[in-house]
Amino acid sequence: MRGVGKTVALPDGALTILDGISLDIAPGERVAIVGESGSGKTTLLSLLAGLDLPSRGEVWLDGEPIHASDEDARAALRARAVGFVFQNFQLMPAMSALDNVALPLELRGESGTDAARALLQQVGLGQRLHHLPRQLSGGEQQRVAIARAFATRPRILFADEPTGNLDRRTGQAIEDLLFGMDDARATTVVVVTHDERLAARCDRQLRLDAGRLLP
Ligand SMILES: Nc1ncnc2c1ncn2[C@@H]1O[C@H](COP(=O)(O)OP(=O)(O)OP(=O)(O)O)[C@@H](O)[C@H]1O
Ligand SMILES: [Mg+2]
Repeated sequence: MRGVGKTVALPDGALTILDGISLDIAPGERVAIVGESGSGKTTLLSLLAGLDLPSRGEVWLDGEPIHASDEDARAALRARAVGFVFQNFQLMPAMSALDNVALPLELRGESGTDAARALLQQVGLGQRLHHLPRQLSGGEQQRVAIARAFATRPRILFADEPTGNLDRRTGQAIEDLLFGMDDARATTVVVVTHDERLAARCDRQLRLDAGRLLP
C-alpha cells in the first residue's frame, strides 16, 4: 500500500476512515492488525484484499494494481489467490455447512465435497455437516467460515477476528489451522485480532489508531 486513504461521504460531511497508510507485506509473512474498535482495521483488511477500493493511493496485491482494476479483475484475482474470513461470517443462509465450504471449489468447477468434509472435521464440525447456518452456534458458524476460507488453499489469507467469539480451546485449534498451512505452503496471513496471544504468534504487528498506522 502506498499513501492509501479512505473517505466516505456522510450527510454532515466527509468522514476519513483511513489516512496516509503505506505498508509492505512480504510473501509468507504473518501480520497482525491491531487497534481499538473503530480504528479502521476491517476497512484496511478489505482494501488489502481488494474487496473495497481506496479513495486515494495505491494497493498492489500479488503484483496487480487493484486500485486501478475493475470489479471483474479484482474478483478474478481474489478467486485465484485470496481467502477471506469475514468478521460477520457471511455464510450462505440456505446452504448446509458442507455446501458453504464446498462452494468456492465448485465455483472453480471442482468437486468440493470431500475437501469440505475433511476441513469441517479439522475444525471440529464433522457432526454438523448438514446443519444450516441458523442451526449452528455463533462459534460454529465462525468455524465454517474459516473452513471455507481454507477450501481453495489460498496463498494469501485475510481473516477478521477469526478467534473473536471462541473459547480458548477452540480458538487454539483455529489458530493452529491458521498457522498450520504455513509450514507446507508459506501462506501469507493477515489477521485482524484483539487476541494478544494470536497477535504475538505473528511475525509483525501493525497498530492502527484513528485511521493511522502507528510507527
Ligand atoms: N461504509 C461506511 N460508511 C461510514 N462509516 C464507516 C463505513 N465503514 C466504516 N465506517 C466507520 O469507520 C470506522 C472504522 O470502521 P472499521 O469497521 O474499519 O473499524 P474496526 O477497527 O474494524 O472496528 P471493530 O474492532 O469494532 O471491528 C468506524 O468508525 C466506522 O463507523
Ligand atoms: Mg472490524
